[in-house]
Amino acid sequence: MIQDPRKILVVDDSPANLEILSDLMSGEYEVLCSLSGSEGLELALAEQPDLILLDVMMPFMDGYEVCRRLKGNPVTSEIPVIFVTALNHPEDEARGLELGAIDYVTKPINFPIVHARIRNHLARRRMESLLLERTVLLDREVAAHLDAREQLELLNRELKARVVHEVSKNRLKDQALMVNDKLASVGQLAAGVAHEINNPLGFICGNLGVLLKNFGKLTEFDTLRQEHATLLPLAERERCAEERKSLDIDYILEDSIEILTESLSGAERITKIVRDLRNFSRVDTPVKEMVSLSECMESTLNVCLSELQHVSIRQEYEPTPGILCYAGDLNQALLNMLINAGQAVKQPGEITLKCWSDERNVYASVSDTGCGIAEKFRERIFEPFFTTRDVGQGAGLGLSVAHQIVQAHGGVIQVASEVGVGTTFTLAFPLNDTSKEMIP
Ligand SMILES: Nc1ncnc2c1ncn2[C@@H]1O[C@H](COP(=O)(O)OP(=O)(O)OP(=O)(O)O)[C@@H](O)[C@H]1O
Ligand SMILES: [Mg+2]
Repeated sequence: MIQDPRKILVVDDSPANLEILSDLMSGEYEVLCSLSGSEGLELALAEQPDLILLDVMMPFMDGYEVCRRLKGNPVTSEIPVIFVTALNHPEDEARGLELGAIDYVTKPINFPIVHARIRNHLARRRMESLLLERTVLLDREVAAHLDAREQLELLNRELKARVVHEVSKNRLKDQALMVNDKLASVGQLAAGVAHEINNPLGFICGNLGVLLKNFGKLTEFDTLRQEHATLLPLAERERCAEERKSLDIDYILEDSIEILTESLSGAERITKIVRDLRNFSRVDTPVKEMVSLSECMESTLNVCLSELQHVSIRQEYEPTPGILCYAGDLNQALLNMLINAGQAVKQPGEITLKCWSDERNVYASVSDTGCGIAEKFRERIFEPFFTTRDVGQGAGLGLSVAHQIVQAHGGVIQVASEVGVGTTFTLAFPLNDTSKEMIP
């Protein structure tokens, strides 16, 4: 709060002048008096008066020097100075004003005029102080406002970034869910087809087996019949032999058995594929079940063998405890890694599947001698939609789906890779979700 300025310092070497001025103002102001320039400077510093009335002609230090020193010191430079002097040449006044005085009054003093000027200067000083105070307050408010605005902008930016992050996270989640749903429907479809094929396949295999047996019997009978043909008259025998030759009976019997044997082994292969397909998708068991990791790997491998014809496959399965899992999902994860491995290996190459366990985990790994993964991509391969394949070649979902599935089973998935040497994906499932029994 600005006080009304009322403290005046009078510096004059004449005690009579000091008395007069002091008498004149003491009713209205607090008057400080000094008889010398040096004492006046000290008082000004110590008391911070609101106005200084300064005589010019004083011994040791004249008023001009006092004014110069007052204006040169930041503590006193703002105190208004009025020269009160007998020097009435315009050059003297100009010199005083140039030194920074705000006014110049000549003696003999006209008291009403001096009084009025003092009042005006003090009023101006008050206004200046007020202005200064307001400016400081305003500056503070502006600074606070800018600060608040900056904080608001920062918050706004953070909020926007968070919204964008959440939106894209949710979008990715939705898309991943969609993909999972799609995979589940593909699995269901595959299992449905496998189921439908299974019945006719059963009687095809059965019938082929019966036919093969029948042909065996027919061949046996034919051999016997040929042995007995020697008993026929020569003409009859020759006619039979000719007829046999023209009908190609030897060839038919031999070839039919070969055809039937091949067909039966083909049908048996289809049976195995169908069984693997059903094992792979496990739609008929949508609950957790205890499975052997090596069995899962084997049936998954069989489902995608056609994609891996260009590589040699090694399987090194140690007996491990069974793991409690959604087998269809687990197979899907393994399939995604196997397909990636197949895509990474250019001829000649190898894929190795392993299973093993220690006292904490059950492990499965898929290694390939393929192109490897560059370090800059390694951190991103589990992100949904991250792919290095050409447009239309890969959706970038295989590993993110595998990652989700493994995580959902409390497991972890790790990758080790060297460009030009190969890649190994290792899955580890904690033993607490496993059976105690070792499954070969
Ligand atoms: N065994 C591997 N060897 C080399 N690179 C691999 C291997 N497995 C994955 N990658 C890299 O990781 C990326 C992501 O794999 P992911 O299976 O998620 O997607 P994708 O194979 O590109 O497409 P999608 O599986 O959806 O068809 C691949 O594009 C590839 O660059
Ligand atoms: Mg893939």
